[in-house]
Amino acid sequence: MAAAVALQGVSKAFGDVYAVRELDLAIRDGEFFSLLGPSGCGKTTTLRMIAGFEFPTEGSLQIHGVEMALQPPNERPVNTVFQSYALFPHMTVEENVGFGLRMKKVGGTEIAERVKRALDMVRLSHRATAAPKQLSGGQQQRVALARALVNEPEVLLLDEPLGALDLKLRQAMQTELKDLQARVGITFVYVTHDQGEALTMSDRIGVMHEGRLLQVGTPQEIYERPTSRFVAGFIGEINLLPATVIDHDSVRLAGGRLVAAATGVAPGSEVTVALRPERLELYGVNEVIPTNLNTVRGRVTRRVYFGDVFFYDIDTTDGVIEVKEENRPGVDLHEIGEEAVVAWDPAASTVVER
Ligand SMILES: Nc1ncnc2c1ncn2[C@@H]1O[C@H](COP(=O)(O)OP(=O)(O)OP(=O)(O)O)[C@@H](O)[C@H]1O
Ligand SMILES: [Mg+2]
Repeated sequence: MAAAVALQGVSKAFGDVYAVRELDLAIRDGEFFSLLGPSGCGKTTTLRMIAGFEFPTEGSLQIHGVEMALQPPNERPVNTVFQSYALFPHMTVEENVGFGLRMKKVGGTEIAERVKRALDMVRLSHRATAAPKQLSGGQQQRVALARALVNEPEVLLLDEPLGALDLKLRQAMQTELKDLQARVGITFVYVTHDQGEALTMSDRIGVMHEGRLLQVGTPQEIYERPTSRFVAGFIGEINLLPATVIDHDSVRLAGGRLVAAATGVAPGSEVTVALRPERLELYGVNEVIPTNLNTVRGRVTRRVYFGDVFFYDIDTTDGVIEVKEENRPGVDLHEIGEEAVVAWDPAASTVVER
């Protein structure tokens, strides 16, 4: 089956500034796909090209196998939901949702049915006759969603739709959006710069940086197997230690040799070893440590209690390493000033470029 959205070699230049460069991406039918990246990396530009508000400078863009790169927005089977949802204040909820259909001269009975269906989807049928100002921010954003869903798009494009909501409401809406997507089965292309949001909601994530798509994968692949230093550092807490490749399965830190998969990297290359704090363990210097683990010795310089976990900073010859330890019953506490050994399974580390 053709991808819901397929971009091949897509670039977009504004004057001599490239907002998007040589983007190749296939979004599957029914998928919740997120474009994630820092401000200015080209997320909105990519979404606007899929919507038809911008045309690619180069490349091919297909929706369900049909070339769309130069089609106007109204001839594409997509709809967009923006962060600023701008409902018409003088119209009721149902009038807002039905507005586009009335413009298209769809029949009255059909409009009524489709508006009702769309409002059911976002669970707002009971507020059909309310004015927008009588609704909360989250409810208003759901009206904006219904206004897009009423067109029965094959692909729904969402650009930071929850950005204007406060944290609590945003989290509630994340769950609701994810449920809605699973229920209606429409392909969602979701733009966000919030990594937590992308990790919790998406089937797959595409991470963008400076106009380029750096990595596409499931949330777990992106978090656990970053293929670049940028992706490693952008998502979650991580230690990045400078190292030199010895051979395909070992690298050298200032503090000594480590086992780490460095396949495909030439010996002598300068690389970075990426380590998640929660994959590290802390041992006392006199404890027996399983010999298969990598170890780095240092001194405890900070301990922060978060209730369920402790965060430690260990000052080593390779810099400060952050360790996250679960607050299990019987866990050994390490005191500030104490010597300690940071240990981890070699499989828990990732080697990326310097
Ligand atoms: N119409 C335009 N004219 C000129 N430059 C533009 C235009 N639209 C976007 N750009 C530039 O293209 C780059 C990517 O912008 P884009 O809006 O796609 O980023 P973004 O990832 O959505 O960022 P944010 O998270 O801040 O919304 C930026 O450098 C931006 O200044
Ligand atoms: Mg944007």
